[in-house]
Amino acid sequence: MATTTVNEDIYAAVERELERVSYPGDFPALPDMPASRYIDPVYYDLEVQHVFKKTWLNVGHVSELPKPGAYKLWEQLDESIIVSRGTDDVIRAFKNTCRHRGAALVTKPTGVAKRFVCPYHSWGYSAEGELKSVPEAHNFACLNKAERPLFQVRCEIWRGFIFINFDADAILLADFMAPLDAQVGDFPLEKMAVKGVLRTELDCNWKTAYDNFLEIYHVSSVHRETIAPFLDSKSFVVSPLDHGHARFTTRKKIEGLYGSGAMDDLDERYKSLTVAFPRFPNGFTALDPAGFNWMAFWPAGPDKMVIVSTMMGMTKDNSEEDRAYWEEFTAYQGKILDEDVNLFPTVQRSMRKGDLTHLVLSYQEQYIQWYHEHLDMAIGIDNIPGHLRVDPVMTRNLGR
Ligand code: FES
Ligand SMILES: [Fe+2]
Repeated sequence: MATTTVNEDIYAAVERELERVSYPGDFPALPDMPASRYIDPVYYDLEVQHVFKKTWLNVGHVSELPKPGAYKLWEQLDESIIVSRGTDDVIRAFKNTCRHRGAALVTKPTGVAKRFVCPYHSWGYSAEGELKSVPEAHNFACLNKAERPLFQVRCEIWRGFIFINFDADAILLADFMAPLDAQVGDFPLEKMAVKGVLRTELDCNWKTAYDNFLEIYHVSSVHRETIAPFLDSKSFVVSPLDHGHARFTTRKKIEGLYGSGAMDDLDERYKSLTVAFPRFPNGFTALDPAGFNWMAFWPAGPDKMVIVSTMMGMTKDNSEEDRAYWEEFTAYQGKILDEDVNLFPTVQRSMRKGDLTHLVLSYQEQYIQWYHEHLDMAIGIDNIPGHLRVDPVMTRNLGR
């Protein structure tokens, strides 16, 4: 399959967008998108079962587990997962489920532990998931501790970001991320660390929120005084990538959206352009040398969702100045988010009430169509009732 590569002349593509005055002749008309995909519990269940339970999901970053024994709890999609750095320095993921009678071992969101000790009857597990201690073990007939380790979930790392997958047959994370690697392989993601986290719970479908971050069309209305002065929204280029990912490039009106001077040796395109990437199925980030907001959009019901915004930045000292910078950065990201989120429940209501049965998409909103086509592909078209499907016009047009 053909994939847009970083060698393509991004600058020429941006210039073409700036000159464009009509709908591109070689691009298909985007069909109306059924609003039922955002409200119907049938489609919601299909997404969870076939997309989220079978795709690589980002659950954290290695900087959150700085030493052996460090763990974090990841709780989304009705799952409770312990992500733990073992004494062998390997990061693993386990179901937060005791092998005795199923109690949750861990309730604190983060910590450092030599043992996970179940609060119910005190079975103890190592940071590598082995069952190590069972009080009054003589009362169990034939209990072999080696046969009862914690249930492990596939866990792989991409450039410092920790991913899990509930599907034992899924492709390797490296293969899944390869289309994005080809675009941002030269951005020093490995030097980044988590600097702050914001969590926003909203009364809307996860896609109602996600869609907002996948187009630039709203920026001049919603972010008139914050982002709009920095970005030339007319220059917005969408490059659809394999596995449902994409790259967005936008010309900056002013170099350094949030600051300047960081990473002077970085490729020019990260300075004069904003290079952003949506990651299938639920991630979005716009890279910036001065720091960026790594976002995840989690379903929590047909009309409930959670945005987790993780501030990523260069690992520096822990000086007062550094801390103040990231506090201010996080607050600024929160302010931009606030400008967006109040709209989403109103969108959801219009769909829920049936006042809006279909959404209309423009050329600049094409990634919404692209990831919806990939949702249907992941679910399997035959599993989806006809009225809930999208016509895969982009996949067809690109011959993929
Ligand atoms: S359920 Fe964990 S020790 Fe009994
Ligand atoms: Fe926005």
